[in-house]
Amino acid sequence: MGTYVVTGSASGIGAATTHLLEDEGHTVIGVDVLETTVRADLSTPQGRADAVTGIRTALRGGHLDGIAAVAGAGAHLDDPGKVLAVNYFAPVAVLEGLRRELAAGGEGRAVVVSSNSAGTAPLIDETLVRTVLTGDEEAALERARGRHIELPEEIAESAPSITAYASSKLALSLWVRRTAVTAEWAREGLLLNAVAPGAVLSPSVRSAIPPDTDPDNFPTPIPLGVFGQPEDVAFWVHQFLRPQARFTTGTVLYVDGGTDAAMRPEGS
Ligand code: NAI
Repeated sequence: MGTYVVTGSASGIGAATTHLLEDEGHTVIGVDVLETTVRADLSTPQGRADAVTGIRTALRGGHLDGIAAVAGAGAHLDDPGKVLAVNYFAPVAVLEGLRRELAAGGEGRAVVVSSNSAGTAPLIDETLVRTVLTGDEEAALERARGRHIELPEEIAESAPSITAYASSKLALSLWVRRTAVTAEWAREGLLLNAVAPGAVLSPSVRSAIPPDTDPDNFPTPIPLGVFGQPEDVAFWVHQFLRPQARFTTGTVLYVDGGTDAAMRPEGS
């Protein structure tokens, strides 16, 4: 049986992924700001360093078979800097910090959870995305906390957090594509992929969407006509974690009821 790390294990997609792995008999080291194996606040560099140390302690010198970096922060947070830090800098720090432990087993698997808003939201700040990808967190947080994109008045108040969310998820998808094919990952047998969900009724989202909301009239259309459930996304995260998933790396898989295809018919 294997040993896996799941960040964001206390709720939603992370909890559903944890259940799938545990049901197969694997050991899961959960990481979350809420109660779990390793409790850490991934929004700060210190919290991320503590998380990596806590995971190494739990491993007791052993290797990791896979990491699912699921923890994320929604655009409802007031601080766009925090949105950016949890959605981009946290998964990157956890994956880079544990790359050695992941490589030690010979067929490590890593999955991040991006979002289809990386491609469908008209709110991307290209400068922010470029800054994030340089790895300069301080500069990125400063840019995110400014107001650089004009948005309709009804959502202008939360504009920086919405922009930080969509931009952080786009940067994360780009990081996956760029990193997965480097020798440090690909030639070490490390496979790195992203799952990009659409609207999924995890507890945090469920509480924000009125119960009678029609998926066909959601801000972005959902062609399948239903919202996703955490298990629908966890299914694919789990597939990417399996040793049998051995010829796919650098992929961004949309799990969004067809939204990305509907919004970007010319995209690939
Ligand atoms: P959720 O809110 O149910 O779970 C997120 C988990 O991350 C929670 O357990 C939370 O405590 C943890 N977390 C948040 N901030 C943290 C921090 N600073 N340090 C450590 N842990 C922290 O949300 P859900 O829906 O399961 O989200 C999982 C991932 O899926 C996130 O990355 C989210 O951005 C992404 N996603 C979700 C969508 C949705 O509609 N639910 C759509 C697209 C992407």
